[in-house]
Amino acid sequence: MKLTVRMRLFSILFGTLLLVLLAPGSSSARTEQVFRLDGGNATYAFGVNERGELQTLYWGGRLGPHDSVPAAHSLPEWASFDSPNTNTPQEYAGWGAGLFTEPALKVTFADGNRDLVLHFVRATPSGAQSLELLLKDISREIYVTLHYSIDPESGILARFASIENRQKQPVVIEQAAAAQWTLPPARYTLSYLTGRWAGEWTVNQEPIQGGERVIESRRGTTGHQANPWFAISRDDSQNTAGPITADEEHGEVWFGALAWSGSWRITVEHSQLDAVRVTGGFNPFDFGYELKPGEHLETPVFYGGYSDHGLGGASRLLHRFEIAHILPHAPDPKPRPVIYNSWEATEFNVSEAGQEAMAEKAASLGVDRFVMDDGWFGQRKDDHAGLGDWYVNSEKFPRGLKPLIDKVRSLGMDFGLWVEPEMVNPDSDLYRKHPDWVLNFPGRPRSEQRNQLVLNLARSDVRQYIEGFLDKLLTDNDIAFLKWDYNRNWSEPGWDQVPVDQQRRVYVEFIRNLYSILADLRQKHPKIEIESCSGGGGRVDLGILHYTDEVWPSDNTDPFDRLSMQDGFSYAYPPQVMMAWVTDSPHWLNNRRTTSLSYRMLSSMQGSLGIGANLNNWTPDDFATAKRLIADYHSVQRTIVGGDLYRVISPRGGSEFSASETVSGDKNQAVLFAFTHSTQEGRDFPLLQLQGLEPDAEYKLGWIEGKALPGTPESASGAWWMRHGLQLDLRGDFQAAAFRLDRQR
Ligand code: DGJ
Repeated sequence: MKLTVRMRLFSILFGTLLLVLLAPGSSSARTEQVFRLDGGNATYAFGVNERGELQTLYWGGRLGPHDSVPAAHSLPEWASFDSPNTNTPQEYAGWGAGLFTEPALKVTFADGNRDLVLHFVRATPSGAQSLELLLKDISREIYVTLHYSIDPESGILARFASIENRQKQPVVIEQAAAAQWTLPPARYTLSYLTGRWAGEWTVNQEPIQGGERVIESRRGTTGHQANPWFAISRDDSQNTAGPITADEEHGEVWFGALAWSGSWRITVEHSQLDAVRVTGGFNPFDFGYELKPGEHLETPVFYGGYSDHGLGGASRLLHRFEIAHILPHAPDPKPRPVIYNSWEATEFNVSEAGQEAMAEKAASLGVDRFVMDDGWFGQRKDDHAGLGDWYVNSEKFPRGLKPLIDKVRSLGMDFGLWVEPEMVNPDSDLYRKHPDWVLNFPGRPRSEQRNQLVLNLARSDVRQYIEGFLDKLLTDNDIAFLKWDYNRNWSEPGWDQVPVDQQRRVYVEFIRNLYSILADLRQKHPKIEIESCSGGGGRVDLGILHYTDEVWPSDNTDPFDRLSMQDGFSYAYPPQVMMAWVTDSPHWLNNRRTTSLSYRMLSSMQGSLGIGANLNNWTPDDFATAKRLIADYHSVQRTIVGGDLYRVISPRGGSEFSASETVSGDKNQAVLFAFTHSTQEGRDFPLLQLQGLEPDAEYKLGWIEGKALPGTPESASGAWWMRHGLQLDLRGDFQAAAFRLDRQR
């Protein structure tokens, strides 16, 4: 059949959205529709097949502007056991018509029907690089709008879905993904992040084999135990029987991150026909979102990208994207102030005099921000009481917070304060007044963790209370920064004030209210900066990072443990948001490990630096070392937190050595940190060949800490530093070195 093809090309400086549309009216016209998004070094294409399904066609390296992508044709039945519906890689599959792989959407209708088959209705460009596609069930009034946009710089796609019920009766959504991604057929290695409290950010790597790998949180929050990020590296050693290892700087990598701070799930499926599909969105466990007639449910955004420079290239793209598009002050968030926080020094024993004395010491180091942590409010003597009562404790601060804040300001720092708004101790005025405000099932036990319960933020009165006290706190006091903590996960997630069929909405409404409070506070107090902390790294994701300027990656501040945690963190998130404190040695967690102050400083200087040690115990030498290194840090901070990160030697897998390098966007500066755990058999530190420099430019070497072996030039070309490389003089136990390279004009 001869088809009339109408092409609309939206030319943009870097990215393009190309729609190949056909004349309306032709029954087969829609089967030839191909939608293509181009950005950075990536192309994403999908089309409508002859059954009307939206089918993935291509995701990978950028294609030529005039290349055509063949139209979609659904895959045939493989055997009577595998329907075409299962075999065809759909962009957003409803559970119906014999779909045996993960659905994107599963619903139960009021009459008991649970069959849902989504077919394409129309596509509408919604911006220069974005597109909306409408799908509808083959007979029922369930509509799904799929949103796509591509970042012209990084080629990272943002996808989410909006599900609308136009039936006359409610439907229950049992499973709703933000997006499904299909990769080209190949052998792959999956990387993902897991952990536990004080042990977050473990990188796991495994071959993708038949079946499904589930990465998830069922905890009502993002969780320490897994993080909503994945990377899938193409295995180049397809024909070898050897172990499969992802390559840091070479090869094709597909990656994604989910922007959701509630229960979430990402599945990586290797189907019976060797297709690899990733599905991510709300966690279907205990989910059940009732959608009344006329209502719609919007899913979180699932971001996905492609790199042909290995896992290093993938994280560099993701970092740039997060800084340019996700963070509250994107595209140019300012480097984080160097903070002092006394939590590890004083715990709950805060007082006006004690904090002021500590502030004087912190200021003498060149610290920019002084943060008072837990213990300042209510009847908070320890973690048994006070959460929920957000008034200043008059025994500890008889004159209120003002004298301390004034003192901190007079020392040239700004002031930050710890809060944990979503929690309540049963021993609090708030709980005595509103015992019904917590997540619970009536008549059932209320499980406490850290002696606290979770306020049901899905409730409008709770939402109002939390926003109200925070607004007042920020209005009444000169507070520049909130450390927003969240120290337990959900249990008994009941919400009995709404009808039974709406109670599971708590999984969505709680998080939406959290986001909206953060958005309101930022709007009312535009100068406020916020850290997302959840007993360390329990709430780090691209959803919360839209509203918070930084995160606390872990309560584990051991400088050696932090090396591998920071390495793991960096796969998904940039050093800009990664707070890293220098604390005391021996460290409380690994309590017989002693490290030097310079080792601890350099470990933390790889991210956004903070000091959390008890300065009352520091010697004059300690003050001098920290002051010098903080000044050095300030002078190269923009490169460290905003540059391109190269994990030159990974500390993972029991490595004796590690090194990380960041290069500024203009390639004018590079900063390198190197660490050795313990020298064995007299071995030298591995030769350091730098990366990402301009080969023909001249770079001058400047030491922050440590030295190289004799013969290392003071200045050499980028080619020399990258190809010849330098040999550090770094031996012994827990030793560290750092240097900078500055381009000469
Ligand atoms: C957990 C946080 O991660 C710590 O840094 C500290 O703020 C405590 N909570 C305070 O209770």
